[in-house]
Amino acid sequence: MSESKKSAIILAAGDGKRMKSKKPKVLMEVAFQPMLSWVLDSVKQAGIEKIAVIIGNNAELLEKELGSHPDCKTFPQAERKGTGHAVLQAAAFLEENKDGDVLVLCGDAPFMDSTTVNEAYKLHKEKNHAVTVITAEVENPFGYGRIVREKDGGLLGIVEQKDCSEEQRSIREINSGGYWFNTANLLEALPLLTDENANREYYLTRTVELIRNNGRFAGAYKSDNGRIVLGANDRRGLRELNRIATEMLNDEISDGGVDIIGEVFIQKGVKIGQDTVILPNTIIKGDTVIGEGCVIGPNSFIEDCKIGNEVTLNNVQAFESCVEDGAKVGPFVQLRPNTTLKKGVKIGDFVEVKNSVIGEKTSIAHLTYIGDSDVGAGVNFGCGCVTANYDGIAKHRTVIGDNAFIGCNTNLIAPVTVGENATTAAGTTVTKNVPANSLAIERGQMNVKENWEKNFLRKKKK
Ligand code: UD1
Ligand code: CA
Repeated sequence: MSESKKSAIILAAGDGKRMKSKKPKVLMEVAFQPMLSWVLDSVKQAGIEKIAVIIGNNAELLEKELGSHPDCKTFPQAERKGTGHAVLQAAAFLEENKDGDVLVLCGDAPFMDSTTVNEAYKLHKEKNHAVTVITAEVENPFGYGRIVREKDGGLLGIVEQKDCSEEQRSIREINSGGYWFNTANLLEALPLLTDENANREYYLTRTVELIRNNGRFAGAYKSDNGRIVLGANDRRGLRELNRIATEMLNDEISDGGVDIIGEVFIQKGVKIGQDTVILPNTIIKGDTVIGEGCVIGPNSFIEDCKIGNEVTLNNVQAFESCVEDGAKVGPFVQLRPNTTLKKGVKIGDFVEVKNSVIGEKTSIAHLTYIGDSDVGAGVNFGCGCVTANYDGIAKHRTVIGDNAFIGCNTNLIAPVTVGENATTAAGTTVTKNVPANSLAIERGQMNVKENWEKNFLRKKKK
């Protein structure tokens, strides 16, 4: 089999009106990821680098999404005149990559995977096909193009639902909307398309017959993965795709030795180490890596975080943060971006940490806000401590040395430094640096007036 130059065209110009969204359909999300981005992932995983995307309305939104894929070229399709017309908009791209094969995929079928794409390519080259249609057999073929085969199994053509004869309607092998074409042969066929069909559209599917008429081979690769054809037309359909995606992704995570209990949503690409347990109502997104033997959840939301081994995150919201081995966090804790909790840190209930480094084994047990701070190791925070990091104009840092003891209800007015082994007394507002090993205490004199209540009531009666 001779490998040749590979390229791909993704059809993404449909608006998907039934979604009732300001976004184009291909940007609707499945498991937190736009459908188009699922398709792009598969194309790239299949080793294809030259990619064209056909875009329609809302070009700005699509261009923005494609910003993270600078290697993709976009081709606008001003009017939706069908899938064949859509591909024709990228004629210049096809010309550029004429001496090879081009993969065409729908941008709204997120589960088309790279294995299927590569297996279809293998067949395409082995059999010297000019076109190989990727197909699947489904329970309910309604709405899909039916695969019409010759007696010997060869591919005759694809007939759309509305154009089907009674007999053709019962065919359960359907067109996934994915194809490999010999690029030059596709370029020959496209200008011959007409809109003589029930929808008055230029159907890409018609190229199969045209290519055959030119005396070339057409074939079909039947995948045993029925999911590759799935798409959504409305929000109910999207919900179903989400359900399937969640199951698929959770299966993969479970197979890696992770326990998932209850409703858990994990985005594609998240990595979780073995013997970690994910408890109910937890969402894990973005560029997140979680180590081994952790307990994450219940009710946690983790996005773009690096989590070490043996970490507990109970009822935690964490964003762009790093939690090292053995840390115990929660319940009801928010870790905002750029926070690092070093090994063995303990964070208790109703604590928020932002843009700070918390040293090893430091304990912040209750009702505390730490922002823009560098906290050493072995520090103990009492209940209700606050770093006053914002003076109304700028943010300032608080620095606390190793083994300091920050008494309950301490306010640290930044910029300020508390030295190693220093103590702040409960209720102290720290406005000056505290040297190492010293005590900072800032309190009004406490007065006790005996029998005060009785005297007070007597005066009031008179
Ligand atoms: C198409 C196939 C059908 C197949 C099905 C799989 C044709 C004629 N039919 O039907 O055989 O079973 O996909 O889902 O191709 N698009 C454009 N511009 C257009 C029209 C469509 O970019 O003018 C894009 C859409 O955004 C979508 C894809 O092409 O991503 C498929 O279009 P759609 O209208 O959904 O085609 P189907 O009728 O589902
Ligand atoms: Ca469709």
